[in-house]
Amino acid sequence: MKIFLDSADIDEIKEAYSYGIIDGITTNPSLIKKAVDTRITKGEKIDMKKYITEILKVAKGTPVSLEVTETTYDRMIHQGRKLYKTFNPIAKNVVIKIPINTAFTDSDDRQMDGIRTIATLSKEKIPINCTLIFTPEQALLAAKAGAKYVSPFAGRIDDEIRDLNRIKYEKHDYFPLEGLEKGKVLEDNGVVSGIDLIEQCIDIIDMYELETEVLGASIRNARQTRECALAGADIATLPLNVIQDLLKHHKTYEGMQKFTKDIVIEYMHLMNGFKKENTKKNTKRNKFKKK
Ligand code: G3P
Repeated sequence: MKIFLDSADIDEIKEAYSYGIIDGITTNPSLIKKAVDTRITKGEKIDMKKYITEILKVAKGTPVSLEVTETTYDRMIHQGRKLYKTFNPIAKNVVIKIPINTAFTDSDDRQMDGIRTIATLSKEKIPINCTLIFTPEQALLAAKAGAKYVSPFAGRIDDEIRDLNRIKYEKHDYFPLEGLEKGKVLEDNGVVSGIDLIEQCIDIIDMYELETEVLGASIRNARQTRECALAGADIATLPLNVIQDLLKHHKTYEGMQKFTKDIVIEYMHLMNGFKKENTKKNTKRNKFKKK
């Protein structure tokens, strides 16, 4: 499973790429707002074009999703093309993010603008990440329209199930993939958890051999990341803290404490010897260079 960083904060992006395990970046308007607000609070001014250019360069050719801010077909087409044309030449790694449906309510007439935009831009070979997926059928239509990625929002489905059933929770709390029971298994339109949503999207896309990659989004903790991988997601996009949490276990700390305490003097001498040899070699090479 590929791991993307879900962030627009350049410091976080540099930090995450230094780990050597990041395969791409996803941003959205809220993440950009958070990153910009942080900088403005520190008294900095932001040149958005330069800022996005820097993100694209740090990503070193790995895909970076940039989301449109318009909500109607004509405007999203214009914005999507412009965004792609302006930024893709920099590092050839821009993906345009389009919501599956830009309507605000059931009676809003923008219901089909998202899908039409995805179909048109995909035909123009602009890679699309279709966002705000909350049902497997939304993923099916996005895939049929040619989206390169579909992003089911796992954590927000878990929030919805808990909110509907008045269950208290913290944002990062684990939500079981098999769902929660309160007399019966709780669900949102046949989806019992965020991971179940991801699994159902994968099943449909695999069954009909569609090319689209399933990108698990709104992932809130390490265990949910594991379940996303076990479900067979192509990608999980994770906030920096969740990426860091993937490595934490108290038995690993305990093991480290014991290993570093148990180094016998003979072994330590051997290791220190390696260090000295390296230093000598480096010194010789440096002298040679100076001549
Ligand atoms: O990738 C989508 C993500 O940014 C949303 O995450 O935690 O706000 O639901 P969250």
